[in-house]
Formats: sequence, C-alpha cells, structure tokens
Amino acid sequence: MVRQGSRLADIGTDHAYLTASLILDGTVKSAIAADLRKGPLENAEATVISYGIADKVELRLSDGLTAILPEEADDIVIAGMGGILISEILGAAPWVKNEKYKLILQPQSHDEVLREWLWNNGFEITQEDACFDDGKAYICMSAAYTGVSSSHSEAEILLGGFADKTDEASSAFVERKLHRVRVRLDALKKSDAENDEIQVLQNIIDEVNR
Ligand SMILES: C[S@@+](CC[C@H](N)C(=O)[O-])C[C@H]1O[C@@H](n2cnc3c(N)ncnc32)[C@H](O)[C@@H]1O
Repeated sequence: MVRQGSRLADIGTDHAYLTASLILDGTVKSAIAADLRKGPLENAEATVISYGIADKVELRLSDGLTAILPEEADDIVIAGMGGILISEILGAAPWVKNEKYKLILQPQSHDEVLREWLWNNGFEITQEDACFDDGKAYICMSAAYTGVSSSHSEAEILLGGFADKTDEASSAFVERKLHRVRVRLDALKKSDAENDEIQVLQNIIDEVNR
C-alpha cells in the first residue's frame, strides 16, 4: 500500500524490517524509522546496518508522530499496534488531516475502533486487505483525509471492506469477528440482563445475513 517513491515514516518500527524491505525493493527512497523506546531503535539500527541502508534511514525516538515534522513524510505506516493506540497517535497529530498524506495502518486488535475514528474524523478508508501469517488472518488498511466525515452501520464499522471480499484471508477474518459477536450475543441473552448491546449485536448479525 506504500506509494512508489514516497518518503516513509514508519511509526513503531521495532526491528525496522518493513522499512528495510521497502528501501531494498526500491519502493521508498528514504525513511524515518521511529519508535517510542530505545531498545527497538537499537534493533532497528542493527537491521539497517546489516542491510547497508543506514544512509537512507533515519532512526528517531518518538512517541507516535510527536517527533515527526509534517514536511518530513508522505506515507505514514503505523503497524503492529492496537486500533485504539493507532487512533490516539493519529488524534495527537492533527497535521495528518491533509489529503497529501497516505496512512497505512495495521491494527492487531480493535480495528473497528480505528475505522470509526477515521470515518468520524474526515478520513476515507481507501483500501483494506487481509493475508495469512502462520495460519492467522491479519488485516491492513490505507486511509486519506478528505475532510468529509461519514457515518456507517455497526456491521460496516466491525467488518469494513471485508464484508464483500471473498478471498480466504478476508473470509477468515470476517468469520473470526462474527464468531465473537455470536458468542457475546448468546452470553448476553442467557444472562437475561436488559442490555442495549444485545440490540447492537443483533443488528450486526441481521445486517450480515441480509
Ligand atoms: C509489535 S511492534 C510492531 C513492529 C512493526 N511495526 C511491525 O508491524 O512488525 C510495536 C512497536 O510499537 C512501538 N510503540 C508502542 N507505542 C508506541 C508509540 N506511542 N509511539 C511509537 N512507537 C510505539 C513499540 O515500542 C514496538 O516496538
């Protein structure tokens, strides 16, 4: 999803494997590989030295995007964190609300929180893809600012662009999320509690089955 020739900011880079891969295959010319902690940045340093790309990668201590200047990057990757933390990092950097940036976001959990945050804050989700790693389906999305907020149904927030996809990884991701909804709905129904959540979850199931 990273654009050819862009300047990359890889936030939460850890070993900088993604940064290294994008430099080595020629996708990006330069990168800032940033992390909150020194330990991961030392891992990143070892990676860029071992691949001989230290002149193209700047390592930077940064809490989210706080140490990145708006003019330093075109494409911003935030991968391998929860969707809540990714939303918080974006919310703390209002300068990303500009159509020139491409956000590439890879939430490990709470992707529905991230989708809702993006849609509420004037971003369009431009692509969503899933793939398998070690038998588990992972997702990635790209987004760009349009300035137009949009509202979506609970099912759209939960499943994003995956509801209409038929590839194996997308189907596995959808099935995993719907399974959680069904388990939670059954438990709530058995508890006899008066609960608004029951209606929300039932709406999701009804919408998906329609
Ligand atoms: C699981 S690793 C993901 C590494 C890599 N991005 C990937 O997807 O393979 C998460 C990394 O995010 C870093 N991190 C967590 N919170 C952060 C924040 N607020 N700002 C920058 N980095 C953060 C952690 O230190 C860790 O190195």
